[in-house]
Amino acid sequence: MEFILSTESVLKIKADILVLGIFKGQKYSGVIKSVNDTLKGALKDLSEEEDFEGDLGKSLMLSSTLGKIASKRVLLVGLGEKAEFTQNTLRKVGILVIKKIKNISSSAVFSSEVSSSPGDVLAVSEGVLLGSYEFNKYKTNNTSENKIEKIIFSSNKIKAATFTQEIEFARLIADSTNLARDLVNEPPMYLTPSKLAEVASQVAKDGGLKCEIFDYAEIEKRGMNGLMAVSSGSEEPPRFIHLTYEPAKKTRKTIAVVGKGITFDSGGLCLKPPDSMRTMKMDMGGSAVVLGVMKAIAVLKPQVRVHGLIASCENMTGGKAYKPDDVINAYNGKTIEVINTDAEGRVVLSDALSYAVELKVDEIVDLATLTGACMVGLGSYTAGVMGNDQKLIDKIRNASDSVGEKTWQLPMDDELRAEIKSSVADIKNAGSKMGGAITAAMFLENFVGDVPWAHIDIAGPAFMEKESLWNPIGGTGFGVRTIIKYLSGK
Ligand code: BES
Ligand code: MN
Ligand code: ZN
Repeated sequence: MEFILSTESVLKIKADILVLGIFKGQKYSGVIKSVNDTLKGALKDLSEEEDFEGDLGKSLMLSSTLGKIASKRVLLVGLGEKAEFTQNTLRKVGILVIKKIKNISSSAVFSSEVSSSPGDVLAVSEGVLLGSYEFNKYKTNNTSENKIEKIIFSSNKIKAATFTQEIEFARLIADSTNLARDLVNEPPMYLTPSKLAEVASQVAKDGGLKCEIFDYAEIEKRGMNGLMAVSSGSEEPPRFIHLTYEPAKKTRKTIAVVGKGITFDSGGLCLKPPDSMRTMKMDMGGSAVVLGVMKAIAVLKPQVRVHGLIASCENMTGGKAYKPDDVINAYNGKTIEVINTDAEGRVVLSDALSYAVELKVDEIVDLATLTGACMVGLGSYTAGVMGNDQKLIDKIRNASDSVGEKTWQLPMDDELRAEIKSSVADIKNAGSKMGGAITAAMFLENFVGDVPWAHIDIAGPAFMEKESLWNPIGGTGFGVRTIIKYLSGK
């Protein structure tokens, strides 16, 4: 897809569609007025007929301009309330517009009356690139219906250099997010832990990152016994993945980004019922975010050292599978009583978090499709954030707010901690049904020592069972943009 900046009037730019944003209840003025006047009031008439008022998420297509302006059609798109307008609105508009037009047109021109502040082009084009994502790899008539080739921004307020920069940045963000989406969407028979490790080493190679991959023997030798236990019921060997981004100048700060990489979660011996097992290819969503982030960081080159850590295996039911009542000697010396083999994410994360502590990092952030309870609490569109350091939690929450990924903090209620006390080991891997997202985080807390740590439970937003207004069906790449923002400030 090509992005072009034009200073010509939108009335004169030739494209399949002219896209015009309009606030809720806005009086026609400026560009919209001149288009509407040229079209002899057709936009206004159609809006009234269809009760289109400019709500965000709504749009209205005028199917023909009868040659009165250079574009063949006009799409009016709602920007919602003016008082609530942000760059997140523009990203959403980009997503919505491209979904509406990609199958019917090859070029579109955006009038940028409302979008000529710094970052506006970025927001719209990011939306356009994210919104045109499709996963067609396994359809034999793989031909996408997507016809879009050219997006033109009409503005005389935007500098060409700024425009190019913002488009480039949008491409990087979208490519990184779409990498995470692709990985989540891959079927589990293809995306095994070894395959995930191959992708990781390719990301490292492309970006000039250091890459270490531990195979079964290395994982065993190092005593990563969480991975050993969870992977024991599978024919597929586990992998521990460690990518490092080293800034050119000596740095004051090191951050670890840790991802849960369960490439399929059957539940293990505590087998999931079929309806819950389906979609469990998404259980490596956290690790997909780590790889998306590392891909972007290699290009953005922030002044901070970043370790990307992934604990990856399958959770299966083979004859050697770990069992309820087992006791695992964790990497940091603590002992874990297995209550439920389906609470496997926290068990493999115990290795990755303790390993991060050994790397003497200043902050740890982990992302994991960890609990159904988090989805029960917050719904499918919002991730839960927990941790041991309010300042770090605030940083993550602020980053997510600014990029438009929804997160909400859950309380680490001291009274709940008793739930994961064990009578035979130091801790157990599951509490009662109540507060399940929080007790999972409390389990993880045992492996981060004194390091400031934030945990993001992405069980809900990592994967959509249906296409939603702002998300594709399947993997969403949720978290990639938040973590890039947190690491780079961009
Ligand atoms: N991968 C699941 C959590 C999950 C559920 C993610 C639904 C996305 C959608 C996790 O490994 C799991 O099975 N958690 C259990 C924990 C329980 C056994 C303590 C759960 O949430 O039921
Ligand atoms: Mn599970
Ligand atoms: Zn899981």
